[in-house]
Amino acid sequence: MAGPLPRHLLPLTARVADDGRVSVGGCDIVDLAREHGTPLFVYDEVHLRERCREAVAAFAGNVTYASKAFLCRAMAALVHEEGLGIDVSTGGELHVALAAGVPAHRLVLHGNNKSVAELRTALDAGVGRLVVDSEHELDRIETLVAAGSPRPRVLLRVTPGVEAHTHEYVMTGQDDTKFGFGLASGAAESALRRAAASPHVELVGIHAHIGSNIFLLSGFERAIERLAPFVRTAGLPELSLGGGLGVAYIEGEETPSFAEWAGVLSQALRSEGVEAELHVEPGRSIAAAAAITVYTVGTVKDLPGIRTYVSVDGGMSDNPRPVLYDSGYEAFMPAYADRDRPVLATIVGKHCESGDVLVRDAHLPAALAVGELVATPVTGAYGHSMASNYNKVPRPPVLFVRDGEARVVVRRETLDDLLRLDT
Ligand code: LLP
Repeated sequence: MAGPLPRHLLPLTARVADDGRVSVGGCDIVDLAREHGTPLFVYDEVHLRERCREAVAAFAGNVTYASKAFLCRAMAALVHEEGLGIDVSTGGELHVALAAGVPAHRLVLHGNNKSVAELRTALDAGVGRLVVDSEHELDRIETLVAAGSPRPRVLLRVTPGVEAHTHEYVMTGQDDTKFGFGLASGAAESALRRAAASPHVELVGIHAHIGSNIFLLSGFERAIERLAPFVRTAGLPELSLGGGLGVAYIEGEETPSFAEWAGVLSQALRSEGVEAELHVEPGRSIAAAAAITVYTVGTVKDLPGIRTYVSVDGGMSDNPRPVLYDSGYEAFMPAYADRDRPVLATIVGKHCESGDVLVRDAHLPAALAVGELVATPVTGAYGHSMASNYNKVPRPPVLFVRDGEARVVVRRETLDDLLRLDT
C-alpha cells in the first residue's frame, strides 16, 4: 500500500498540519479551494524565488528563465527581481515580459520561425540577445537593420547532433530537427561565417539546447564534446547551453541540483578548453515543483475487475502533458495528506475523449469521495502555459501564495471570456 505523498514532491513551504491538511505559503489549500473554486493552480512564491536564487548562485548570475514553462506578468516580474533574464520564444511571450516592466535588454528572443513583425518588435524594443535559428531569419534581420532597426547582439543556435535521454517530442539536439544550424552538415559553419561578416548583427555567442526534462547529465557532456571544436574556433565570448534540467514528478525520481548541473557543465567546458562564458536557460526546473493543481472530484466509477475512474473538474485542458508525453504525476488529497493511500484509481478530466487522463495510476486515501479535493503536485511548468479552452472549458486561475497571503495573479476565465473573440 502506498504511504502518504512524499513530502519532497510538495512545494518548499508546504506543511501538513496535525489534522492532515496541507498549507502552502501559510495558506490552507482547502480554504483556498473554497474561496477561489477549482481547478486552481497554487504557486509557492518562496519556492520560486529559492529556485531562482539557487540557479543564479550556481551559474554566477548567467541565468535566463525560459518563460514557456510558465508566464504571466507576476512571474516575469518575480524572475526579473531575482536577477534572471527571460527567454521569450514568441512575440506573445515578448509582449507579456515587456508588459510586466522587464527591461528589454534582459530578454533573449528564441524561435525557429520568428516573423518579420516579431523581429521588428524585438529589435526596436532593444532585446538583449536574439538567438538566430536559420538563414532566412538572418535575411529578415539584415533587411530590418538595413531599414533602420537597431543592430542586435546575436547568438547562433547550433544543433550538436546528440540525442538527450528524454521523450522524443522534447529532444532538440539531434541532427534531424527543425531547430538551429546543424553542426555535422556544415550549416553551423557557414552561418558562423555569414553572421561574423555581417555589418547588421553583432555576433556574441553560440547557443545549443538539447532537450527538456533531462535526468542524465551525460547528455550535456556529449553535447559539449561535440560543440567544443566549433566553439573554440568561433572564439566568441558567450555560450548558452539552454535549459533542460529534469524535475522529479513521481516518487523515486531524482534529479541533479543546479549546483551539480553547473559543476558538470563547467568541468566539461574546462576539459575541452572552452573559455566562453557559460549561460543557461532553465524553465521547468525553476517553476515545476513550485505549484500544485487542485481539483474537485465529481464522479467515482468503480468498474469491477477493470479500474476505478475518478473524474475531476479539469483535465487535459489544464494539463496536457500526460496525453502528449505520457508524463507521470502523483496525486494526494489536500485534506488528508497524512494518510496512507490504499485506493488505486485513474484520475481523468471532464473532456470528451478517453485520452483525457491526468494520473493513470493514482494512489489516494480511503477518504476519496465525490465532492472531495484531489491535487497533483509538480504542475508549475508546462501546465498553465499549455492550457487550452478545449470543450470550451475556462482556464483555471493562478494564485501566488506567501506568508499566509494569496494573490490572484491570473484570474479564472469566465464564460464570457469564451465569447470574447467571436465576431
Ligand atoms: N531554452 C530553449 C531554447 C528551449 O527550447 C527550452 C524548452 C528551454 C530553454 C527550457 O527548457 P526546460 O528547462 O524547461 O526543460 N512542453 C514540454 C517541454 C518543452 C520544452 C521546450 N523548450 C513538456 O511539457 O515537457
